Amino acid sequence: MHSIDVVEDNLAKLADLFPDCITETRDENGNIARGVDFDHFRQAFSSRIVEGPQERYQLNWPGKREALLTANAPIAKTLRPCREESVDFDTTKNLYIEGDNLDALKLLQETYLGKVKMIYIDPPYNTGKDFIYEDDFAEDKDAYFERSMQVDEEGNRLVANSESNGRFHSDWLRFIYSRIKLSWNLLADDGIIAVTIDDGEVFQFGKVLDEIFGPGNRLACAPWLSEASGGKEKSGLRTGHEYLLLYFKRSSESISQEERSTGELNLRDSAGPYRKGRELMKWGGTSLRSDRPNQFYPLQAPDGTHALPYRNDGKEGHWRWGKENPEILKAFLGQEIFHWEKRPFDDSKTVNGETERWVPYEKIRDIKKSVGWSTWLDKYGTNADATRELKDLFGFKPFDTPKPTSLINWVISLHGDDDCIVVDYFSGSASTAHAVLKANADDHGTRKFIMIQLPELCPDESPAQKAGYKTIADIGKERIRRAGQKVKEEAGLNGVNLDIGFRVLKIDSSNMKDVYYSPDTAEQASLLDQIGNVKEDRTPEDLLFQVMLDWGVDLSLPIMRQQWIMDNGQWTISEPGATEDIGTESSAGTFEVFFVDENALACCFDDGVSEDLIKELAKRQPLRAVFRDSGFASDDAKINAEQIFKQMSPGTEVRSI
Ligand SMILES: C[S@@+](CC[C@H](N)C(=O)[O-])C[C@H]1O[C@@H](n2cnc3c(N)ncnc32)[C@H](O)[C@@H]1O
Repeated sequence: MHSIDVVEDNLAKLADLFPDCITETRDENGNIARGVDFDHFRQAFSSRIVEGPQERYQLNWPGKREALLTANAPIAKTLRPCREESVDFDTTKNLYIEGDNLDALKLLQETYLGKVKMIYIDPPYNTGKDFIYEDDFAEDKDAYFERSMQVDEEGNRLVANSESNGRFHSDWLRFIYSRIKLSWNLLADDGIIAVTIDDGEVFQFGKVLDEIFGPGNRLACAPWLSEASGGKEKSGLRTGHEYLLLYFKRSSESISQEERSTGELNLRDSAGPYRKGRELMKWGGTSLRSDRPNQFYPLQAPDGTHALPYRNDGKEGHWRWGKENPEILKAFLGQEIFHWEKRPFDDSKTVNGETERWVPYEKIRDIKKSVGWSTWLDKYGTNADATRELKDLFGFKPFDTPKPTSLINWVISLHGDDDCIVVDYFSGSASTAHAVLKANADDHGTRKFIMIQLPELCPDESPAQKAGYKTIADIGKERIRRAGQKVKEEAGLNGVNLDIGFRVLKIDSSNMKDVYYSPDTAEQASLLDQIGNVKEDRTPEDLLFQVMLDWGVDLSLPIMRQQWIMDNGQWTISEPGATEDIGTESSAGTFEVFFVDENALACCFDDGVSEDLIKELAKRQPLRAVFRDSGFASDDAKINAEQIFKQMSPGTEVRSI
């Protein structure tokens, strides 16, 4: 209903003749739009060098500074646990975070800074049809709603990036740049990031990664055969491949080698030749006896003595395998399953009077050799395989763009640490979680996953919506439930210790009323309302996770939830079932008490916290104790709390929120 836009028409004509003179730039109103690169244009018509802005080798686009600002801007949000949708909530070490990944990456910065070994992401490819999330924090909501009718269930803003909008690449770059910037912080020095992308944005994405990770840390731009049939035809060429871009943060030492072909079998026992494989001791983080108490048990050493898993530093550790492992069962039956060697403790330490102890190693009987990986990825599954995997689990195809677990398993296997954290913040149908479960079942690893997914609505009339799934996050969670069962069943005895649970955490506004952050702006009339600084709809468990986030406590540590009842001067303590509601309204003398990682953190957010309760908690000598500022039974109890802890447990840090 409009006359032809002459400017657009001219731009199109110029683009036809001189496509390199068309760029994305800011118009006179500061909006990003398609425009002419006049410096380039002048140079195109001159045989001399035309004066212009200083040239630099760099990636630039209008909105880059905003992207940096977006990555750094603080947010007043929190993660609220959702027991009902979780599996093994109290004990699992896996997390499923529902919400925008920009918020999630910010919330995780404190706790997971430098701790993640592997990030795999498969973002929207910017095909012109896939939605991307609008981070325009500067734009007010009303202006936005006028511009677009796209919102999700939560009121989150979703915008389709279509090629005609004149800011096609700029929008996508801004979206991806801030997230990659935050990913760099999360990665450990030996961490790896792997991203999948197609021809559309591979060049831009590579530039972003080169800039943030450094071109020297680029491991590969590996083509992956995604369509076995050769793919769609495009001007006579078929593009049946996508790319996997791989970067390490600082060091390539973590890259494991592919086990292949020959390798000398230089040892021999009654069953034939073998060579020494991995040792049975668990190494690295979570290798203390307390991390896996069931995996501290004696094995018979060659001299008939009992070998226990002591670490090099003399501390009690644990074996990599549980007693139920079929190989361990064979060892108990007297078979020569392990190669044994005596090894001294570090720094001539002694344990039980001994300076060395027996250490078992696996025996490798196949002829194998370690070689570097090939980056020609044509044997790690295709899109069709990914769809088949989903159909096997659901009976139909609930999600359009899944990746095959075999590809992600290859990515995971690149990192040698089998006890690491794997993050996917464009989780979709949670193929990465499925791949982590499979990897752990295959090699008895204890990798943990963190999936992040926006609760993006399933498309109207889609098979998923018809089957009752409201959002893609709902599909992802159900995928993990189903895949977990399947992987565990298929692993048989090897799957007994497999962690197939996940803790669901949902991004929401802060638990605290505004006054908590800006007390000087509270008005007299509303002061009474603000005596309790916690929003009414928030539960004690919400506050627990807020405290964990604020203190940088690992969100996957085991939680013990207890009900403490004071009766006739005696405490009765019980542990309610996983989903049993203790009730947020504590009746007099009944309290909900949380312990995180046994004694790392103890919290009680109920009202009426008395000196009796404080003393009983202090007896447990937690590292940190937290209460609600308004939760103390009296001013005296509040003042005395610190004194009580000082006397009974001086090592405890006490706080109230
Ligand atoms: C290409 S799909 C990933 C598919 C996934 N690799 C799989 O195998 O199922 C990209 C996903 O990112 C999600 N997404 C897009 N923007 C997001 C954001 N800002 N935060 C979290 N997830 C987002 C989309 O909902 C979509 O599910």
